[in-house]
Amino acid sequence: MKTIIEPFRIKVVEPIRMTTPAEREEILLNAGYNLFMIKSDDILIDLLTDSGTAAMSDSQWACIMRGDESYAGARSFYKFFDVVQAITGFKHIIPTHQGRAAERILFEIIAKPGTYFPSNTHFDTTRANIEYHNANAVDLVIPEGKDPKVIHPFKGNIDLTRLEKFIDDTDPDNIPICMLTVTNNSGGGQPVSLENIRATKRLLERYKIPLFLDACRFAENAYFIKKREPGYGDKLCIDIAREMFSYADGCTMSAKKDALVNIGGFLALNDDTLATKARNVLIVTEGFPTYGGLAGRDLEAIAQGLQEVLDEDYLHYRIRTVEYMAEQLDRLGVPYLKPAGGHAIYLDAKEFVPHIPPEQFPGQAIACALYLDGGIRSCEIGSIMFGKTDPLTKSHIGPDMELVRLAFPRRVYTQSHFDYTVEVIGKVFEKRDQLRGFRFTYEAPMLRHFTAQFEKV
Ligand code: F0G
Repeated sequence: MKTIIEPFRIKVVEPIRMTTPAEREEILLNAGYNLFMIKSDDILIDLLTDSGTAAMSDSQWACIMRGDESYAGARSFYKFFDVVQAITGFKHIIPTHQGRAAERILFEIIAKPGTYFPSNTHFDTTRANIEYHNANAVDLVIPEGKDPKVIHPFKGNIDLTRLEKFIDDTDPDNIPICMLTVTNNSGGGQPVSLENIRATKRLLERYKIPLFLDACRFAENAYFIKKREPGYGDKLCIDIAREMFSYADGCTMSAKKDALVNIGGFLALNDDTLATKARNVLIVTEGFPTYGGLAGRDLEAIAQGLQEVLDEDYLHYRIRTVEYMAEQLDRLGVPYLKPAGGHAIYLDAKEFVPHIPPEQFPGQAIACALYLDGGIRSCEIGSIMFGKTDPLTKSHIGPDMELVRLAFPRRVYTQSHFDYTVEVIGKVFEKRDQLRGFRFTYEAPMLRHFTAQFEKV
């Protein structure tokens, strides 16, 4: 069969409030052209993030009722522990309220001023947690990973030649750990191959540097390995995931992605001394080690979600959905980061609206047009999020890519929602010459994309 159906039936629905273009024009103006400022009730299709936006299954909702809310030694913790350990193999599993809480604890105990943390690409919260300790976050993704037009099966791979040179040029004692983000969100949701994970581990072992995975989207990464890496086509995703984790000494996890829940995370690791330190920080800032920052019911739902996410039919449907949308965009000639990633389509704004220079935020022009024309919320990942103004020359320093991310919440939207989204993108693409750039009317000193206000150029 050509049609891949959603492998679930819908038992509960959440109504979408319909809006008109005229209403949306006013909403957009009142929001200062910042989509983060729009109420979710005013959005038709919300593709702002795939984080914490999943629909839970009936089994997960049943788990919510079964949660053991005991302060210490809760049954739900042991269930969570067993499932996470069966997948990751790590000795110590420390629940946190979300991914960045795991990052905060990890870097609080290992990041000293002047230390270095290489990665394929750090996610912004990881980078922020490293830089908070005056340490350095270093991105070493392969060159293919920075060019939206280059097709490569594993664009999330770390550049091993540069990593080796980096370790040799830096004192290995100054590198507490190396990280791999699977899939590489900041690089377009691109997977890392098992060959690359294995080779990274082999290289790091020579210098006694531990390897940690940022495992938010580990199941999507495992599925890409199954489909694209020679020798893995007949393997189960659970076994591929286990092999991925087997080369690592620990991981941070945002359960808001591939654990199919709305809140949660964990830090997992093998080292006893580090685990003791981590639990001490956990008790001060998150909670007792058998609940961390979570309720017992959350731990139950995560345990269930981690099993559901590795279902082969689910992963097939999940990755096929993104691929399906990519095929429709190809048909229309719309430029996007290729190949399509695991959790999102990233429109290539530099190609989409070449007449808008980076300092006028081409991604924002597209994101606002998608909202105005179709009520779709996407997210600029370009000069607004990562750009800077040179303090001396006042000129704009932009990132390598200007992207608009359309992230897919898990199990939330159906094929018709994606068909509609393609239609809206197609309409905006047809009139791309008329789109105009933006300038700031308010700019916060840090993480400016969340609160910025704009006007049209
Ligand atoms: N690491 C990666 C790769 C992520 O994508 C995120 C979150 C985190 C860590 C932090 O996890 O939000 O649970 O604290 N990404 C979301 C996104 C916010 O929209 O991509 P968190």
